[in-house]
Amino acid sequence: MSDPEQLRALIEAERPMLVVPEIEAIATPMLEQLEAQGTVRVIPTARAARLTMDREGIRRLAAETLRLPTSPYKFCDSLEALQAAIDGGIGYPCIVKPVMSSSGKGQSKIDGPQDVRKAWDYAMAGGRVARGRVIVEGFIDFDYEITLLTVRAVDARGNVETHFCDPIGHVQVSGDYVESWQPHPMSEAALERSRLIAEAVTSDLGGLGLFGVELFVKGDPGLVQRVSPRPHDTGMVTMATQWQNEFELHARAILGLPVDTSLKTPGASAVIYGGVEAQGVVFDGVDEALRVPGTELRLFGKPESFVRRRMGVALARHDDVEVARQRAKQAAACVKPRVA
Ligand SMILES: Nc1ncnc2c1ncn2[C@@H]1O[C@H](COP(=O)(O)OP(=O)(O)O)[C@@H](O)[C@H]1O
Ligand SMILES: [Mg+2]
Repeated sequence: MSDPEQLRALIEAERPMLVVPEIEAIATPMLEQLEAQGTVRVIPTARAARLTMDREGIRRLAAETLRLPTSPYKFCDSLEALQAAIDGGIGYPCIVKPVMSSSGKGQSKIDGPQDVRKAWDYAMAGGRVARGRVIVEGFIDFDYEITLLTVRAVDARGNVETHFCDPIGHVQVSGDYVESWQPHPMSEAALERSRLIAEAVTSDLGGLGLFGVELFVKGDPGLVQRVSPRPHDTGMVTMATQWQNEFELHARAILGLPVDTSLKTPGASAVIYGGVEAQGVVFDGVDEALRVPGTELRLFGKPESFVRRRMGVALARHDDVEVARQRAKQAAACVKPRVA
């Protein structure tokens, strides 16, 4: 998918009506070309896929074009440039990430000068596509972070309307999502502000579909962190909490059908990690996990397990989000992947 000619050949051979990108590492300039010549419709748009495929496109759009608040940042192509960016204003502590990566891969925190080289080397080893470029961001000591799932769908008259799911709170460890819940309690002002930010960025990206808008909240103003033009990992909680989960909402919006973003019940999700390096795993403790009241499991069926690979999630529903979080974590902890 990252080879433009192979991508073109595939699309021209299959002639799909729609291309729904589901990962970031795609030859998006080729999608733009094919969309411009009317060969396919790309969801939400080919431009949105290009701008969100790495950290640079979306960050510059949010901060420089739309002037939305973000963490302080600089893009750097060498260890020397990284050091200069830190000394020139980003300061310590800060966070370094490869421009193209996700789920915390290649991401680390720098607390002082002694960590800079280590962070650079780690980013170089952890990027998804070999490209010696990183973003360095000032560390934000946020009160909490949320994902605001935002849906662009057409109404009965064909006008695009923006819908918001209830905010999803989440906890990340080393840049990777481990736990999320919905709804996350927030002040009316912070919620309103977050919705305005999400509306501004998604209406610029355009098209139809669901977006995951990640925001840091400290006091009142939210900072935009990242935007996915597709369902979001923290949004897996909606499989337990909404009448229409994030995948259904994406499909409905794309197909021009009505959407309903309302909450069915508060709930939570917790990640099940591989814990082992193995090909072809089986899962122990599934029965025990399912005995935790109000829970369900989703095991992803990945063929290979790594210690830190996400192999599934436990979902829990409960009127009290804190109880749901406890139960999701309890159920997830029961499930143990092992070599078959
Ligand atoms: N500038 C920052 N300040 C504080 N925490 C950060 C910062 N950047 C990232 N993080 C933490 O790391 C997580 C992952 O970073 P993010 O930029 O969303 O990368 P990814 O796209 O890989 O999810 C965030 O959800 C947050 O918890
Ligand atoms: Mg993120």
